[in-house]
Amino acid sequence: MSPARPGPGGPGGGRPLVAGNWKMHLNHLEAIAHVQRIAFSLGRRECEQVEVAVLAPFTDLRSVQTLIDGDRLPLAYGAQDVSAESEGAYTGEISAAMLARLGTRYVLVGHSERRARHGEADATVAAKAAAALAHGITPIVCVGEPLEVRAAGDHLAAVSDSLRHSVRGLDPAALGKLVCAYEPVWAIGTGQVAGPEDAQQMAAALRAVLTDLGAAGPGRLLYGGSVGPDNAAELLAGPDVDGLLVGGASLDAARFAAIVRAAAAPPGG
Ligand code: PGA
Repeated sequence: MSPARPGPGGPGGGRPLVAGNWKMHLNHLEAIAHVQRIAFSLGRRECEQVEVAVLAPFTDLRSVQTLIDGDRLPLAYGAQDVSAESEGAYTGEISAAMLARLGTRYVLVGHSERRARHGEADATVAAKAAAALAHGITPIVCVGEPLEVRAAGDHLAAVSDSLRHSVRGLDPAALGKLVCAYEPVWAIGTGQVAGPEDAQQMAAALRAVLTDLGAAGPGRLLYGGSVGPDNAAELLAGPDVDGLLVGGASLDAARFAAIVRAAAAPPGG
């Protein structure tokens, strides 16, 4: 049996966040059915103990908003990217103001797939995080090392440095509310998962970066990379790990619900 979570109470605010990153999956009709399945699969207790969010493609957001608001589902939703610009001649971009108008609570910034495929550097990520915050949206700032950096043993320094640059310019209040996701690139979609000690060690290092930068609160630190129902509880057992960012497993409502259940404290715990 996987170890039960000791109960809410990590530095990042107590209530773990489990966010499902759908990536480029599910059109808006599929999204509606999927959110309904997730909601039906979860009990009230789990949704009170765990903050559950879905991070959907832009074209799904209006449908997801209408469903969650209309049926008062205890789920949050967010986007997977945002423009650093506020408005103007930026063909194909979506602004933070547009996302805010849709009630978007979270937005991923600097996911490794965007860093690798769209050339997003830390400075761009910082600008996107600032744009989101300016519109009341909490950025989920993603950082993580490739395999060669891990193999060389440089991962703590490299990822800490990347976070430092990815949040440059944010004020202490913003830093204190930030969500940061550590996603080792070698663990994303590979079935290879960092050990719970690795996840905890990195979470503590990233929290120290936020503290060092003068954050007015603890922030929230997530682990991502091949998270599933079988490893969720042990990954969350680290005192600095405040939640999980789930890719592939979030596309299966039953598996995603099982991860949320694993993140909830045991009954009476
Ligand atoms: P994965 O993806 O859970 O499929 O590894 C995680 C992510 O990229 O956010």
